[in-house]
Amino acid sequence: MHPLSSSDTDAVFQSYGRCCRNEAFFADFYDLFMAKSAEVRQVFRNTDMPEQRRLLRAGIMWLILYARGASGNKLRDLGRTHSRHGYDINPSWYGLWVDALMEAVARHDVHHSPQLLTQWRQVLSPGIDLIRDAH
Ligand code: HEM
Repeated sequence: MHPLSSSDTDAVFQSYGRCCRNEAFFADFYDLFMAKSAEVRQVFRNTDMPEQRRLLRAGIMWLILYARGASGNKLRDLGRTHSRHGYDINPSWYGLWVDALMEAVARHDVHHSPQLLTQWRQVLSPGIDLIRDAH
């Protein structure tokens, strides 16, 4: 795993704080994500989306905290629920997930920049790999 500097994780942590100030961030994320794939839309057909938006708020936090050195316990739980034994999330969908999230960040963080979005991807990557590789 490539070491992440605390300036990268701090920049992303602060960006996430700006995004979270607006509830529409999470609604826009799921709209953008589902617009990318009919299969992804199908996966969420029976999901309570207001509850899902609330759960994702914590999930993204855990990804950032993991990059800052926190234990991966919460992410390992997500790895189990998302695996072939659970929701059976296709590993190829994580690329769409992160692309949609970056579009939502660009829309909601007034301080977004290409460099900041690169930092976001680097910070999220170890935690996303952990969840995806549990498939
Ligand atoms: C690394 C990125 C992701 C994070 C942080 C994340 C986070 C979460 C969290 C916190 C939950 C609720 C807790 C649980 O059920 O275990 C959840 C549920 C779920 N996630 Fe993810 N998720 C990610 C990627 C994905 C992807 C790529 C898909 C593909 C469609 C997906 C589909 C689902 C589904 C179907 C549920 C259950 C919905 C329901 O209860 O009806 N997730 N996710």
